[in-house]
Amino acid sequence: MISNPIRIGIAGLGRAFSLMVPAFTLDPRVEIVAGADPRPEARSKFEADFGAKAFDSMEKLVEAADVDLVYIAAPHQFHAAIACAAAAAGKHVLVEKPMALSLEECDAMIAAARNGGVRLIVGHSHSFDAPVLRARQLIEGGEPGRVRMVSALNYTDFLYRPRRPEELDTARGGGVVFNQAAHQVDIVRLLAGSRVTHVRALTGSWDPARPTEGAYSCQLAFDGGAFATLVYSGYARFDSDEFAGWIGEMGAKKDPAAYGLARTALKGDELSLKTARNYGGAAFKPPAKQDAHQHFGEVIVSCERADLRPLPHGVMVYGDREQRLEPLPAPRVPRSEVIDEICETLIDGRPPRHGGEWARGTLEVCLAILRSARERRELAL
Ligand SMILES: NC(=O)c1ccc[n+]([C@@H]2O[C@H](COP(=O)([O-])OP(=O)(O)OC[C@H]3O[C@@H](n4cnc5c(N)ncnc54)[C@H](O)[C@@H]3O)[C@@H](O)[C@H]2O)c1
Repeated sequence: MISNPIRIGIAGLGRAFSLMVPAFTLDPRVEIVAGADPRPEARSKFEADFGAKAFDSMEKLVEAADVDLVYIAAPHQFHAAIACAAAAAGKHVLVEKPMALSLEECDAMIAAARNGGVRLIVGHSHSFDAPVLRARQLIEGGEPGRVRMVSALNYTDFLYRPRRPEELDTARGGGVVFNQAAHQVDIVRLLAGSRVTHVRALTGSWDPARPTEGAYSCQLAFDGGAFATLVYSGYARFDSDEFAGWIGEMGAKKDPAAYGLARTALKGDELSLKTARNYGGAAFKPPAKQDAHQHFGEVIVSCERADLRPLPHGVMVYGDREQRLEPLPAPRVPRSEVIDEICETLIDGRPPRHGGEWARGTLEVCLAILRSARERRELAL
């Protein structure tokens, strides 16, 4: 029996956690009961904000008797160890993307969840976004016919946000393939609805001061003949949110006049800048109010009888003679789709859409993007 509300312990009180706070606090199906982080300022703020205990070690958090599910929002390199410890302690796991750094780590996490008799969900990723799920539902309803092609494109300032050193080192999980393809590949796989069979990719690492991938372009082939093109640039010049009416990734209005701000703001000691802006830091700002759904660049799904385009306010359906918007109500609680999946899995007993095997598949594609680019060849998965 799972408690109601579901009691969540947070492992890692940084940026990812701050993006999930609205879902954890506004959705009555869950409550925050504990946290853990090595940064004392994050622990103090957490205890003040939530009246819940913040531990200085992950071990104490995963052992805490009142925690049902551990949400792992620590840097990637800690995901596998914390997930395995949580599962061994009988705690369900929600772990941030990317699931881990290697397929071996993913296998260990999947095995630990199975042996511990607990559920493993990987997210948030933008394939949880309501417009993407609605597009998938339309496809499953049969109206547009089978998926033939997916085009996904995103231009952001990802590489110029203040970073930890490992975020700029591919060998340690840095760069846009580990961090951003984890979203884009997840979306494209979910919409295509079949297994990726082949990957051909090229990556760009164009700024010697930030020596990791800042861009990629890749083609995926799917079982059954569908194919996809994914393009990403994090070089902070063109911003593809222009195509979404200047609604940003988090569903809030964006000011196009703030052009160039990411580069300008990136001066001085980068780690101090990141820490100051992070949860508990002097310059921390909670996420802006979200009026529309979250999104991850442009996505167009070409099916037999229609093209579908998930947007912040719904899904555009382009048929042979007519186009229409399948509207979605504005989100009441940002990222409540994650809580929906937790409840469907832990309460209703349904297998998660974003379980361990699923997310392992996304990491497998991301690793293949890196390898295909390195070896300049197509890879069969
Ligand atoms: N889904 C999303 O939208 C989203 C957004 C941002 C980050 N993420 C993911 O979340 C994870 C964390 O990224 P972030 O940007 O929040 O990083 P961050 O640096 O902002 O936060 C990480 C937090 O973990 C803490 N930490 C460090 N070592 C730890 C350890 N051993 N155990 C526990 N906590 C530890 C840090 O002190 C920090 O507070 C990454 O895997 C990242 O890919 C997801």
